[in-house]
Amino acid sequence: LEPQDLAGVRVVISAGGTREPIDPVRFLGNRSSGRQGVALAVEAAARGGDVDLVAANITADVLAEVRHPRIRVRTVGTAAQLGEAMTDAAASADVVIMAAAVADYRPAEASDQKLTKEAGILDRIDLVENPDIVTGLAASRPQGQTIVAFAAETLSDPEQRRERARRKRERKGVDLLAVNLADADHGFEKADNAIEVIGDGGAVVATADGSKRHVARALWDAVQKTRS
Ligand code: C5P
Repeated sequence: LEPQDLAGVRVVISAGGTREPIDPVRFLGNRSSGRQGVALAVEAAARGGDVDLVAANITADVLAEVRHPRIRVRTVGTAAQLGEAMTDAAASADVVIMAAAVADYRPAEASDQKLTKEAGILDRIDLVENPDIVTGLAASRPQGQTIVAFAAETLSDPEQRRERARRKRERKGVDLLAVNLADADHGFEKADNAIEVIGDGGAVVATADGSKRHVARALWDAVQKTRS
């Protein structure tokens, strides 16, 4: 039996990856399956939390794992939709976890007609930058709210990874930054994940390596330590 240490705690989690439309048949996307975010939602609900899961392009088989009376799912597609849903849900949350992979850029214009190479308009796509959602949430957070961001890292040197994570945590103004290792055995599209959690003053406050549920448990333990 899991501890009920999140009973009465309102949690918002984003998961999956955004898709930025180019035309009706194409998009700019990423490899996030949503599994780590879903595991965080399932773990939170199992510990008594009330969960809003904002799901960006998560497949039905992965989403099937979240059927729980205390998990509410909102589905979104683009970074703009994700930002809107998060802003809405985060207003009344005690903990926000941004596990979704958000596109840094979107096509400046999405064509309503399929683009063709014959017309010579597929050789370049003008991009505009998307706002950083978690930075915005952190800047206008309600008092007492704890915010966690993720960072996927392919750097193999642990000290370099940590340094980058420390800067990212400061820049985004979040309480915890979970660095997840994206390599051949961990991270995107994999069953397992490995994280290192950076907290106050850049300290490593937790590490975990194993199933995404195991990693979720360790991250929630770190969140609870930060909140207490
Ligand atoms: O800077 P980087 O993309 O590595 O940061 C990743 C973290 O920032 C994740 O928590 C991700 O959800 C969040 N993010 C965001 N809005 C963006 C880009 C990333 O909230 N436009």
